[in-house]
Amino acid sequence: MIRTLFFDDEAVIILDQSQLPDKVEYLRCETVEEVAQAIKKLNVRGAPLIGVTAAFGLAMAVTNYQGERAGIHDYFRQTRTTLASTRPTAVNLFWALERMEKVFTQEFVRQANREQIGERLKQEAIKMYEEDIAINRAIGQYGQILLAEDSQVMTICNAGALATCGYGTALGVIRAAADQGKIKKVWACETRPVLQGARLTVWELMQDKIPVTLISDNMAAYVMQLGQVNTVIAGADRIAANGDTANKIGTYALAVLAAYHQIPFYIAAPLSTLDLKSASGSDIPVEQRPPEEIREFRGMYFTVPEVEVFNPAFDITPHHLITGVITEKGIFKPPYDIAFKGLRSGE
Ligand code: MRU
Repeated sequence: MIRTLFFDDEAVIILDQSQLPDKVEYLRCETVEEVAQAIKKLNVRGAPLIGVTAAFGLAMAVTNYQGERAGIHDYFRQTRTTLASTRPTAVNLFWALERMEKVFTQEFVRQANREQIGERLKQEAIKMYEEDIAINRAIGQYGQILLAEDSQVMTICNAGALATCGYGTALGVIRAAADQGKIKKVWACETRPVLQGARLTVWELMQDKIPVTLISDNMAAYVMQLGQVNTVIAGADRIAANGDTANKIGTYALAVLAAYHQIPFYIAAPLSTLDLKSASGSDIPVEQRPPEEIREFRGMYFTVPEVEVFNPAFDITPHHLITGVITEKGIFKPPYDIAFKGLRSGE
């Protein structure tokens, strides 16, 4: 399986997903600004992977810090702010930064020197990386139980190995079910405007020889009407306390269509995606992306270049449209406010 992220003492090395599937190229980020730009520009993307990439960015920044020890705390805070201001919706980013800050503070208070703090941060980031893969495998194992023989599963965006440190969430469920011989077909929605479905999900599934058929987003209703979808599974960028879920734009439309056609609609996500501080979806900030993403693709215009554009990167699926949330701790069912009570993110 392709590796999305490498790290050494000098750099965070990112698989450049903006080039896929045409080119498999890695981007070497040696400063925290370069890491932040790579997240912002979607060279690296997907909620869990953004979080772990930022964690490595912080570790690298502290390891390379050249100033006095007295200034290291302010430097850490500035670095954290730079990374936190990249993308607002995926809560995994803030979860990861908070987890790294706890480690930093512990080490700082016990008078560790710069090398020791940097090393400890790197170890924590490595732990997050490894945990993420194990979590995705657990999500896969719980989720595959939901799928019957000859399943035809529809998904949107890319919640796969490419969106994580490996294996994937929604695609992790599909992978685990495919290992059991249960997948007849995956319907991949192309996911306008950035085409994560067409460029990434299709590529990833074809590499694993899992049968996949690509459709444009406006074909989903018809495929369901034809009776060719048994289950819809999507990833998540943030799940509010009542179960309302932010995910890639178009997910809400799929949930409405699934309800109309009486098809189960699942969200697959690690518990680090749960944000109990957001009571409902209306508390979740939805990222607005540059208009060029709608007007053009890799330099080719689809429209009048000056047209006004609305480009929200995510939408909110109301909790009552979600059949269940598949996590590493099992499948949560409605009412979500009760199911999630007492949990903390990442637990
Ligand atoms: O804008 P992106 O490509 O980062 O959006 C990604 C998604 O919406 C994914 O479905 C989500 O992050 C879950 S990834 C396991």
